Amino acid sequence: MGSPIVLGIESSCDETGAGLVRDGRLLGHAVASSMDEHARYGGVVPEIAARAHVHSVRPVIQQALDEAGLRLSDIGAVAVTTGPGLSGALQVGLAGAKGVAYAYALGVPLYGIHHLAGHVAADTLEHGPLPTPCMVLIVSGGHTSLLLVRDLARDPILHLGDTLDDAAGECFDKVARVFGLPYPGGPAIDRAARVGDPRAAPFPRPLTGPRDEPYAFSFSGLKTAAARWAEGHAGRELPVADGAASLQEAVADVLTRKAVAACEGYGVGTLVVVGGVAANSCVRSLAEERCRAAGIRLRVPPLRLCTDNGAMIAAVGDLLVRAGAEPAPLDVSIDPSAPLAYAALHPIAAPTRAVAA
Ligand code: KG4
Ligand code: ZN
Repeated sequence: MGSPIVLGIESSCDETGAGLVRDGRLLGHAVASSMDEHARYGGVVPEIAARAHVHSVRPVIQQALDEAGLRLSDIGAVAVTTGPGLSGALQVGLAGAKGVAYAYALGVPLYGIHHLAGHVAADTLEHGPLPTPCMVLIVSGGHTSLLLVRDLARDPILHLGDTLDDAAGECFDKVARVFGLPYPGGPAIDRAARVGDPRAAPFPRPLTGPRDEPYAFSFSGLKTAAARWAEGHAGRELPVADGAASLQEAVADVLTRKAVAACEGYGVGTLVVVGGVAANSCVRSLAEERCRAAGIRLRVPPLRLCTDNGAMIAAVGDLLVRAGAEPAPLDVSIDPSAPLAYAALHPIAAPTRAVAA
């Protein structure tokens, strides 16, 4: 008998995901998105997202089980995103996970997972275990960080640098709006950029000067520069494709330049690029080109595992189960602004008691 089958549930934003993983292998997964319902508001509406999770969580779990040819009773552990994310949305996922873990399949352990650790683990489902250590560039709608990752199930995650203001995905989403492109902006920018000239607009490369923090990011100035550039075309047709291509090039240039520098600075041979923005074609191709030139091994998950999904949460759960981690207590709750320190959002080993001298 191998290790148990882990069900992962993700509901931190507008995707409801369920995935099934055992021994690092993806058995089945399904994702439902409320993206279309948010589109006319130009961004995620928390109440709409929460209600959509209520409707989707059961069918999505069933769909993942069907894909894997499994039944609810086959599940041996449940992992769920408990933060960070939208509070109402997280609540729905956690309630669903507790229902499966405690009510249906009575007694199976439950793990509360950090959403971003899920993004990191997503890559293991495609490319196998992560080497220790590895450099991780995490680029999503809410976060942009360079992380030194060791054993994801046991060790703390070291932040080498984070964004000082906007995340890379946020920059894409906000500029897309200014350019008149639909929500979500990242994929729309990516599509528009295909026929654009990446050198058309002279956008800045924030925090890349010799005196700047080498591994920190800043994207709000770039967002403003793109807005100014669009304003400069008032009364004329905006060359959206050129703007999109130039923005994408600027973001990808900064991200990959700093990620490669971090690998070199820390003597780390593998770079893993994860999160929704890792789906960007320019980020992927520039990372490939620069890693090849620097002799760094690059790992990027396939597109379907880059954006939010349940399989990545199951992947972390599977690592925790196999590491013998303590499950979450029955009353585990959500933490909408959880900082990324450990993959699990609850203590995973029995705390060592301090003995009074
Ligand atoms: O990781 P994710 O699915 O959700 C968060 O945890 O935030 O990332 C969503 C972000 C959004 O900002 C979206 O615009 C961006 O990822 N994104 C992209 C692409 N696909 C998704 N950005 C650029 N190019 C893409 N192809
Ligand atoms: Zn995400």
